[in-house]
Amino acid sequence: MMVITGAGISAESGIPTFRGQDGLWQNYSVMDLATPQAFAANPELVWAFYNWRRNLISQIKENPAHQALVILEESLPDFTLVTQNVDGLHQRAGSKNLIEIHGNLWRVKCSKCHQRYIDMSVDMGTLPLCKCGGLLRPDVVWFGENLDHQLLQRTEEIAQKCDVLLVIGTSCSVYPMAAIPMLAKNRGAFVAEINIEETPLTANIDITITGKAGEITPLLVK
Ligand code: OAD
Ligand code: ZN
Repeated sequence: MMVITGAGISAESGIPTFRGQDGLWQNYSVMDLATPQAFAANPELVWAFYNWRRNLISQIKENPAHQALVILEESLPDFTLVTQNVDGLHQRAGSKNLIEIHGNLWRVKCSKCHQRYIDMSVDMGTLPLCKCGGLLRPDVVWFGENLDHQLLQRTEEIAQKCDVLLVIGTSCSVYPMAAIPMLAKNRGAFVAEINIEETPLTANIDITITGKAGEITPLLVK
């Protein structure tokens, strides 16, 4: 079994989604914040955004959907969870076989020497520096950047051999992850999604369960 999650699974924990109605943060769109160009032009602004997210995530908890996926993992012989979320909530809930395909916002990497660190500070300041003097950045994948090649390859392999794929709380609008569900479908997997609204997947997969992840996922797992 394979499960893919997006921002919708963390929404009920209190983290705004990227493409929700309220806008993400101070009226900025994700394209103004989560790009290498934005960071080059205004690293203080991008760090202020990530500090805000670190602070928010440090104060909230994983929800019943995250917890249900841990129970699902424990009850199946072969289970992989691939999340597009960088909030670390699946890890905090206890998921083990987990691929964080877009990175993790509790990790930073140096833009000069490329060293990676875990730093759980809720406020990294506006221009945090590496020991080498280089500017640190969040270790997440921004728009226009490539995904980790090995992680993507593993994800594609699992999609091609899974029997069942469950897609939870993603708008399926950001490639290459948006293409993964149909990869599984075309190889004969049963593909289901849980979402509060229709997505580009809805018309092309086996079943959509319309509703909130935190309510539907535990019922489904049960
Ligand atoms: P989006 O914000 O694009 O989509 C969130 C999805 O969750 C939408 O389809 C909502 O309908 C759905 N949703 C909202 N609340 C829900 C709930 N309570 N239960 C179930 N579904 C709910 O977020 P993603 O698809 O995750 O990338 O976005 C993909 C990527 O775009 C993110 O990983 C991020 C962003 O740019 C990077 O940071 C690289
Ligand atoms: Zn460095």
